Amino acid sequence: MKTIQAVRGMHDITPDQSGHWSRLEQAVAEVFSSYAYREIRMPLVESTRLFHRSIGEVTDIVEKEMYTFPDRNDESLALRPEGTAGCVRAVIENGLLNTPQKLWYGGPMFRYEKPQKGRYRQFHQIGAEVFGYPDVEVEAEMLLLNQRFWTRLGLDKNVSLQLNNIGDSETRANYKAALVDYLSAHKESLDADSLRRLDLNPMRILDSKNRDTQKLLNDAPQMAGFLSEASLQRVEQLNALLQNQGVKVEHNPRLVRGLDYYNDTVFEWVSNDLGAQGTVCGGGRYDGLVEQLGGKSIPAIGFAMGVERLYLLLEAQAFAALKGSDAPDAYFIVAADPLQSFAFDLAERLRNAKPQFKIMHNLATTSMKSQFKKADKSGARYAFVIGEDEVANASVTVKDLQNGEQAQYAIGDSLDNLLAGLKS
Ligand code: HAM
Repeated sequence: MKTIQAVRGMHDITPDQSGHWSRLEQAVAEVFSSYAYREIRMPLVESTRLFHRSIGEVTDIVEKEMYTFPDRNDESLALRPEGTAGCVRAVIENGLLNTPQKLWYGGPMFRYEKPQKGRYRQFHQIGAEVFGYPDVEVEAEMLLLNQRFWTRLGLDKNVSLQLNNIGDSETRANYKAALVDYLSAHKESLDADSLRRLDLNPMRILDSKNRDTQKLLNDAPQMAGFLSEASLQRVEQLNALLQNQGVKVEHNPRLVRGLDYYNDTVFEWVSNDLGAQGTVCGGGRYDGLVEQLGGKSIPAIGFAMGVERLYLLLEAQAFAALKGSDAPDAYFIVAADPLQSFAFDLAERLRNAKPQFKIMHNLATTSMKSQFKKADKSGARYAFVIGEDEVANASVTVKDLQNGEQAQYAIGDSLDNLLAGLKS
């Protein structure tokens, strides 16, 4: 019979990987906590309408990447392709907008994209959404928080910040018109994708990877020329704040992002070490979205990182920045079946006394040699050996697998001697 495989573009996180994942998530959660961000958890499934209304009808995500299906009641539902829309829905629905909120979330997202390295159909994001701050200080704090992730993960040399300001809706309308005028006069140099976007979402053409289009764009009108006084001031203020904090910035006038809800500041952290899928984190301000989704008018900003992409960068460094391991502390080696009950007793007493201590009880009584081999392979620090002799004396023999030292401890009345003998 043919075995059933995972769905294309969706991956297992194996036990060899999951420890690194947890430590990565833990490190990120600690940084969030140091900025007093609180976690929010949203459903994986939402009304399809939510994404149409927020991400935009003429975006790659909504046009061709959503996993959409009717439920048994014929309501159209979608697996979430990103977290912002659901988070905004949640803060409105739960009445969280009476005071500013700094929130973060993590979990799987789904997009029907062409899978390749760093791009999957089920992937994980860790993101944040902050509500209620109109001024650029929140941009600065968010980018500093991002930078702290990279330092914490040892990735500060691998990623760099690109920044742009895409203005308010009036700016974008004027700019769009100018861009369409310019590009319409050069239609012969546009590929099919850009021609389609010319009518529907011309600013996305700035993102085109097509060489001819890129060349054409060199002489196209620039967004900066269309920005309002207020937006220009924001650019300047943000630059000053970031400069004061030593954040290096590259201004990228072509950075437009693939979702429609943004205004003013947009940013991406990019890496040269990931091939074509170089963006590890993207975000920006979206002051209109809360109101657009039925809440009050309230400014907002957020970002999301691709966890698989971070993982790839960390893997290339052998996870050097993530301390910790899943190897057991103690590996129980038991000489014969009748001694198992004694071993269970000891293991449970030890777990009571030292809850953080990881005990692997090898429940199969194969030869001592094979059990020692398994203990070595597991990376355990200690082998706890239980034979006839140990049971007869109410004791355990502990072998330090790092230096080969061995000692026998009495455990009849108390574990104190044993505990004192274990180096932390
Ligand atoms: P996004 O740029 O679509 O933004 O996704 C954010 C990050 O998710 C990307 O930079 C990338 O690292 C990762 N990512 C996206 N698609 C895939 C994929 N198919 N496979 C692997 N990783 C992927 C958003 O989703 C916005 N919600 C971010 C945001 C939050 N803006 C404001 N608040």
